[in-house]
Amino acid sequence: METKNISSAVIKRLPRYYRYLSELLDEDVERISSNELSRKMHVTASQIRQDLNNFGGFGQQGYGYNVKYLYKEIGKILGLDVVHPMIILGAGNLGQALANYREFEKRGFKLVGIFDINPVLEGITVRGIEIKMIKDLGQFIKENSVEIAILTIPKNKAKEMADILVENGIKAIWNFAHVDLETPENVIVENVHLSESLMTLSYNISKYEQEHKDNE
Ligand code: NAI
Repeated sequence: METKNISSAVIKRLPRYYRYLSELLDEDVERISSNELSRKMHVTASQIRQDLNNFGGFGQQGYGYNVKYLYKEIGKILGLDVVHPMIILGAGNLGQALANYREFEKRGFKLVGIFDINPVLEGITVRGIEIKMIKDLGQFIKENSVEIAILTIPKNKAKEMADILVENGIKAIWNFAHVDLETPENVIVENVHLSESLMTLSYNISKYEQEHKDNE
């Protein structure tokens, strides 16, 4: 399938389509029109048609979209049709919370290892996975073909650990530390900043209050 030259804005919307389609599948819905999908997702029908046309248009005039097919194809585009072995670095509050979340596995993100530098944590299991020490990291990555590392360590350690991960052949880093990581081109980084999402929420609260005050 041709996925070249697709704008990052469209790619960003795909996980949302995927989530809605997954819900439709759970409800045994076989097909859906762009209008129905539009009502559910609060996105215009034309936006949906435009987005999905990027991938050769999975819909048919008068029939709509075949939910199972569309779900599968978007899954392929997002690389969810293969297993991505991943590890967590930093078995603190956030690392353990992520480790305990089973749902990632449904999408092919398989947690295979957890690492920390605190010897007190060594050998403790989180959802059946033993916390290991950093000295075992390199060998573990190679032996388990680890693709993704989740960084949930203090900010001041993130760069050093990212370098070690890169040296050991990691393909991607899901970075929660509040720092912009520089990695070689072949190592993909996705930064997650929950606080930025909270700030957006805060902005929207202020905006709503302002607008309603003005209307009083
Ligand atoms: P925490 O202090 O509970 O856990 C950090 C863990 O990392 C500890 O177990 C520590 O021993 C370990 N660690 C330290 N250096 C390490 C290294 N070089 N290699 C492996 N493990 C190492 O902290 P918490 O609350 O789990 O937060 C973790 C990080 O995530 C912090 O940097 C925090 O600022 C960040 N954070 C980011 C969020 C986001 O939205 N991006 C949200 C919440 C936290």
